[in-house]
This record gives sequence, C-alpha cells and structure tokens, in this order.
Amino acid sequence: MTDLSLAPGDALDLGCGEGGDGLWLAGRGWHVTAVDISAVAVERLTALARSHGLGDRVVAVRHDLHISFPSGVFDLICAHYLHTPFGLDRSTVLRSAAHALRPGGRLLVVDHGSTAPWSWNQDAGIRYPSPREVAAGIDLTPGTWTVERSDALRGIATGPDGRTAEVTDHVLLIRRTA
Ligand SMILES: C[S@@+](CC[C@H](N)C(=O)[O-])C[C@H]1O[C@@H](n2cnc3c(N)ncnc32)[C@H](O)[C@@H]1O
Repeated sequence: MTDLSLAPGDALDLGCGEGGDGLWLAGRGWHVTAVDISAVAVERLTALARSHGLGDRVVAVRHDLHISFPSGVFDLICAHYLHTPFGLDRSTVLRSAAHALRPGGRLLVVDHGSTAPWSWNQDAGIRYPSPREVAAGIDLTPGTWTVERSDALRGIATGPDGRTAEVTDHVLLIRRTA
C-alpha cells in the first residue's frame, strides 16, 4: 500500500487549466509550477493564487509541452486529464516528467477512462489506454522508476451543468527510486 501523505516540496502541474490542483497543493505547503498552453488558463491561475493568498507558492507559466518541457527538478509532477485534440506526444512529455523527478519523487497521471455524458468528445469508438499501457508508452528503465499504482477507479462525477454520472478515471503513480 502506498503512503500518499507526501511531505510538501516542489510540484509541477502539466496542463494545469485553471489550476485547481495547483491551488490545492499550494494550500498544503507545496511550491507549485503550473504550465499550460493557454494564456487564459495561466492568467486565471495567477489571479486565483493571489486572491487565495498563495501568490508566493504558485508560478503559472504559458508553455507548449509539444515543443519543450519546463526546466527544474520536482518532488511531484501531476498530469491530470492531459487530453487534447491537438498534436501532443504524451509519452514523450511523461518520459520527460519522469526524468525531471528527484529521487523519491512521484509522477501522478490521471486520465479519463470513460466518456462522461457532458464530454466534448462523444465518439463511441474512442478507446482509453489503460494505465499499464500509458506506463509502457513511457518506457522507463526498471530499477530507476517503479509503478506504485495502476488503477481504474469508478466514481460519481458532476458535470459543468450540474448533472451527475458514473465515470472511470485511470490512475498511474510512478516513483523515481534512484
Ligand atoms: C482537460 S484539460 C485539464 C486541465 C486540468 N489539469 C484539470 O484537471 O482540470 C487539459 C489541459 O491541457 C492543456 N494543454 C493541451 N495541450 C497542451 C500543450 N501542448 N502544452 C501545455 N498544455 C496543454 C489545455 O490547455 C488544458 O488546460
């Protein structure tokens, strides 16, 4: 069983959107770098962090992960629903993330595992890669990284219009051991 009560350190949020996860982490003592290709997302997160009194713990930066990866080393790197209809080599991004972890640091990838009724993509043929397949795509050297969790979790989610539905999330947690 993985102890998920991590001591605060340096975190990187990939594709942060409006930054709910970064704010949550900053509120618990983490120093967060949050990146997104959207200037609007970065501006909103910067304003939200200031209004929550967390401006000194959150640095939001516009960054296209298709082109390059942010510099620095981190204790926790999150990629939550880093899905996009545009070109993005996620395996390369996640491999860069694994290499940007400090020894002992963790990479947390949360992906959609089912289509919510409110999703913009209602393609019935869509296939969601399993966490194991995502891990295989990252292609990490055994002995330096270990998969701590690889799960499909089902739960009730609330959509933007207030509707609720059962959805599946794919959760992958990788730890850098050396
Ligand atoms: C589905 S949203 C998830 C947002 C947030 N992580 C969350 O869980 O609410 C995906 C995010 O990835 C960002 N994104 C898409 N392509 C990107 C890229 N090439 N570089 C950086 N961010 C990107 C989008 O702008 C969007 O904010």
